[in-house]
Amino acid sequence: MTASRDPAVDESFLDRVPLPVLVLRGQALEHNLAAMRDYSRRHDVELAPHVKTHLSPQLWRRQEAYGATACTLATVAQVRAMVEHAGVRRVLLANEVVAPGDLAALCRLRREHPDLEVMVFVDSTAAVGAMDRGLARSGADLGPLGVLVEVGPSGGRTGARGVDEARAVARAAAASERLQVVGVSGYEGVLASQGAVADRPRVVDAYLGDGETALRALLDADLVDRRPAILTFGGSDLYPAVVARLADAFDPDDVRVVLRSGCYVLHDHGLYARAQAAMPDGAGLPVFEPVLEVWGPVLSVPEPGRAVVGVGKRDASYDVEPPVPLRRRRDGQETALAELTVERLFDQHAILVGAGTRALAVGDLVAFGISHPCATMDRWRSAWIVDAAGDPVEEIVTLFG
Ligand SMILES: Cc1ncc(COP(=O)(O)O)c(C=O)c1O
Repeated sequence: MTASRDPAVDESFLDRVPLPVLVLRGQALEHNLAAMRDYSRRHDVELAPHVKTHLSPQLWRRQEAYGATACTLATVAQVRAMVEHAGVRRVLLANEVVAPGDLAALCRLRREHPDLEVMVFVDSTAAVGAMDRGLARSGADLGPLGVLVEVGPSGGRTGARGVDEARAVARAAAASERLQVVGVSGYEGVLASQGAVADRPRVVDAYLGDGETALRALLDADLVDRRPAILTFGGSDLYPAVVARLADAFDPDDVRVVLRSGCYVLHDHGLYARAQAAMPDGAGLPVFEPVLEVWGPVLSVPEPGRAVVGVGKRDASYDVEPPVPLRRRRDGQETALAELTVERLFDQHAILVGAGTRALAVGDLVAFGISHPCATMDRWRSAWIVDAAGDPVEEIVTLFG
């Protein structure tokens, strides 16, 4: 993609690039970075953002510049990508790693980069066994791999169920000379859409309490081989509950609480916007701003009340809900759109319906907001950060496979 300006023509960035294009509003991006840095500093918690949200070296470097102390990732392939292309050297691998090929790849990476620190989730004695065997085969020459014993809520995803199970996992890991227990982990985000809404605060708090109790049990049994130990929870939805429950639970010299929020940095016009709107006012929480916009042209207005825009499933997330029409651009002027919804998404087309279609003509450009940034970012290999005037500041790349 090229964004070079033809000096003879006073045309905007959006008139120079092929469409659709993914744009990041630079001011909102900086705002979110600063808001999360200030919030985590205020509560003396660390931030290891989940970088699977964007898998972009340029965005990670910004997060690092704003105080991130480690990079959270979900797969060994993502770790390799960020180690090799972004120079990442401290990783929370927030997942079980049990397949021999994954363990071998992780060992290769640690061997190639001796200064690389990786901490991996582990949630069962079976997983400890698989890791021990895999590391004996592929990494006998390497020092022990740090593991975070993961606790999980009943009916949820991964994670040992209950303190006794967590202690058994830690015992097994501590007994392996290839593993070193460095703390406890969990992910309260799996509870975000589970059970009755009214019960959620209590259920989330009880689960976070399990994490705290598990870590105390491991510390008491002298199973944690690192000070300060790590206690890590936290996505971009229920992170205030994590801070409320855990930030002051331990002496910070003994235990560091680490948030792994990922979507906060890009926020959205859907899932995370609603979660934020449901948070109490005046609680000193960051107010994140939506960063992502997908722009495409009106290709056709084939009948009254219907407009077809060149933005489709290939370009914007639709796993939670379709993209949201925000603004029209015509002759360099932007106008807010209203009374418009996306009725249907094809691979490369959005069908817009409603009275607002009267404001659309062939050749207009339409900006869409999205819901769930992870599932939009992974559709793009590159995107543009723009300034307040809409001029391009930097092209970023993503490393999705
Ligand atoms: C284990 C884990 N940690 C952290 C996160 C980050 O949460 P969010 O995407 O809400 O920022 C996720 C997201 O899926 C996750 O699965």
